[in-house]
Amino acid sequence: MNPLPTRHHPALVVLHWLLAALLLLALAMGTLVLKEMPNASPDKIGALRGHMVVGIAIGALMLVRLLVRWRTTGPAPALTGNRLLDGLGKIAHMGLYLLVFAMAASGMAMALQAGLPEIIFGGSGAPLPESFAAYPARLVHGVIATLLMIQVGVHVAGAVYHQVVLKDRLLSRMGFGKRQAH
Ligand code: HEM
Repeated sequence: MNPLPTRHHPALVVLHWLLAALLLLALAMGTLVLKEMPNASPDKIGALRGHMVVGIAIGALMLVRLLVRWRTTGPAPALTGNRLLDGLGKIAHMGLYLLVFAMAASGMAMALQAGLPEIIFGGSGAPLPESFAAYPARLVHGVIATLLMIQVGVHVAGAVYHQVVLKDRLLSRMGFGKRQAH
């Protein structure tokens, strides 16, 4: 049997960094732009269009990512030497996946409840609802956004811990290059 590779598959590496960039963009757009902009603003439809396209792309790319992860062989689990930390790491990864999917799903649910597909992409010319606050999915989207930001912070802190404290070159597993040690 071949030894396990030292890095993830290049397709997974591309998806990882692309998703990281899109997630940061969607979180920033949502928090800094959409949340602050009243629905009556003439710029709101354009801002929502950009956010929805990025959000749906994130949901779709996450599905592709799961498929690629399942079909390719990855390196051995990155252990820390502490069983509790290793267990928490596994839970943190699962939590990150769940929160991203929940974010995309709650966004789509809110969009459907508010009739956004027609207004934003259908050219119906209908106005936006006065606010999204009346839709339960809006509350869920906002709460999960906060949890996701915390989870992204935990994810980055974990990577820094491996790289700087354990010095196990964890980041190179999510980079390009030869995948076999010899
Ligand atoms: C994983 C992907 C997504 C992320 C990270 C994300 C992030 C955010 C954030 C941070 C906010 C502001 C929440 C708050 O602070 O209360 C927001 C609002 C919103 N998002 Fe998303 N979102 C995503 C996917 C989607 C999708 C797929 C849609 C629709 C198809 C969508 C539609 C909206 C709408 C309509 C708002 C409310 C804007 C407002 O209150 O004016 N989002 N999103």
